Amino acid sequence: MTITIDELSDTVGAEVRGVWAETLLTDESLPEVVLDALEEHGVLVFRDLHLDPRTQVEFCRKLGEVDTSPGHHPVPGIYRVSLDTSKNSSASYLRATFDWHIDGCTPEDDAYPQKATMLSARAVAPSGGETEFASTYRAFDDLGTAERDHLTPLRVVHTLEASQRLVTPEPTPEQLEAWRRRPAKEHPLVWTHKSGRRSLVLGASTDHIVGMEPERSRALLDDLLRRCTAPERVYRHEWAVGDTVIWDNRGVIHRAAPYPVDSPREMLRTTVLGEEPIE
Ligand SMILES: [Fe+2]
Repeated sequence: MTITIDELSDTVGAEVRGVWAETLLTDESLPEVVLDALEEHGVLVFRDLHLDPRTQVEFCRKLGEVDTSPGHHPVPGIYRVSLDTSKNSSASYLRATFDWHIDGCTPEDDAYPQKATMLSARAVAPSGGETEFASTYRAFDDLGTAERDHLTPLRVVHTLEASQRLVTPEPTPEQLEAWRRRPAKEHPLVWTHKSGRRSLVLGASTDHIVGMEPERSRALLDDLLRRCTAPERVYRHEWAVGDTVIWDNRGVIHRAAPYPVDSPREMLRTTVLGEEPIE
């Protein structure tokens, strides 16, 4: 089997060819190839893979420990992503995925942000619903020395409220209370990974920079996010049924383009749990 990996943009994403659902579990070299390519490219696209849910979970287990909390799907390890409340009872929270984010920045417990996320398209939206990716490794690497030095000591408070307010600016008291039950988390703005690489920790959950005046703090975070996600730095995946995409959640931020609530769009997600804290 010959595998080819071709870059999809200058900064993030690559398409993998030469992999089929039938060989995914039998090719013993594949997990390492995928992990190495993820580290290098941040996002990997497999078109036309038509992965069945069990194979998806089994393959992800070769990449790390899989999250098996209940996911509105009969196969453990699969979480159904749909705005249709009959398919997913927490669909209303998914609207926050229309903003840039890292998965798992404000967990209920002390879990580390997820290592990688895999999505397979079962049904697509007639319009909208593309997923966009930007590399936070490259965002850091492309900063000048002075800016790196300025940003590296800063710490940022992340909250569920910050991300939910972007989609529900005028919450009811009950909504607000529910959001505030989720503990706030403080993370460094610059994540120094075990590998030695550094990335920016950005996205919708950023509430404020510790010790900085609120307006300045918001302006700085918004400016960094805008530069990190400038159009030329984004890979936008237009989904077709049968596509599978996996991304490195530690060094990539992502968002979904809005799509209608009555859209048939349905993705099956598997999450590989994190192994390192943001530090
Ligand atoms: Fe997400």
